[in-house]
Amino acid sequence: MIKHESIETNAGLLIALTLIVISIGGLVEIVPLFFINDTVEKVEGVRPYSALELRGRDIYQREGCYLCHSQMVRPFRDEMLRYGHYSLAAESKYDHPFQWGSKRTGPDLARVGGKYSNEWHVAHLVRPTAVVPQSVMPNYPWLLETELNYSDVQDRMRALKMTGVPYSETQQEYEANVTTFGADIAGRLDILRAEETLMQQALTYNYDGQRARITEMDALIAYLQVLGTMVDFSRYDEGYFTQFR
Ligand code: HEC
Repeated sequence: MIKHESIETNAGLLIALTLIVISIGGLVEIVPLFFINDTVEKVEGVRPYSALELRGRDIYQREGCYLCHSQMVRPFRDEMLRYGHYSLAAESKYDHPFQWGSKRTGPDLARVGGKYSNEWHVAHLVRPTAVVPQSVMPNYPWLLETELNYSDVQDRMRALKMTGVPYSETQQEYEANVTTFGADIAGRLDILRAEETLMQQALTYNYDGQRARITEMDALIAYLQVLGTMVDFSRYDEGYFTQFR
C-alpha cells in the first residue's frame, strides 16, 4: 500500500497522480459536451433584444452599471424570495457578453423589468436620491439630455448575428423568426428595418417622457423594463413563491 507520505515526498509521483486526477475530472466535464446538441435548454418567450433595447444595453455597459449590479438570481431561497424565480441559462443566451456579475453594491437587476414605472426610472437615473434618499448610486443626468445615436445599430446587430443571435437579414431568416417568435417580434429582429422599429418603439412607449426626442434614457429604460420579463414564470410556480412573500 502507498502511504500518503511517500506520495508527498516524491515529486514525480505526486505530479503523475495529480495529472491523473485532473484528467478524470476534465473528462467527466468535457466528454458529455460532445454528445449533446444544445447546452442551453430552450425556454419559451426568450427572444433577442429589439434594436432599442440593444442600444440600451450598450449604454448600460458604457456607464458601468454592471460594476454595482449583477444580473443573475442565484437558486437560493433568500434570493428567490427577494427577486423572484432564479435565473435560467436561456435568459442570457442572447447576451454577449453576459451581465451576470458578482458585485452587488446595488440590488440584482435580472428581474427589475416592470417593477417600477418609466417615470420612476427617469427620476432615479437622473438623481437616485430623489426617490431613494439613502442611495449611493451615482447620478446619470446626461442620459436624459443626450440624443440616442443609433446610426450604427444595424452593424451592432450584424456583429451579434455572427455570434449566433438570430437577427434576420434575408427573407428566409425573417420567416424562420416569424415561426419561432411570431410576426410582431420577428419584425423587431429584422436588421434592415432596425432604425424604423427602433423609432417606432421609442415613440410608442415614450420611456423618457419626452415625446419629441429619442434619448439615451429611452434606450436604457427600454432595456431595464424588459429584464426578466421574457419568461412567464407565473405559468410554473409563482403561486408557490407568493406564499412566502
Ligand atoms: C456605485 C454603484 C452603482 C452604480 C455604478 C449603479 N448603481 Fe444602480 N443602484 C445602486 C444602489 C446602491 C441601489 C439601491 C438604492 C437605489 O435604489 O438607488 C441601486 C438601485 C438601482 C435600481 C433599482 C433596483 C431595485 O430593484 O430597486 C436600478 C433600476 C438601478 N440601480 C439601475 C442602474 C443603472 C441602469 C446603472 C447604470 C447607468 C446603475 N444602476 C449604476 C448602486 C449603483
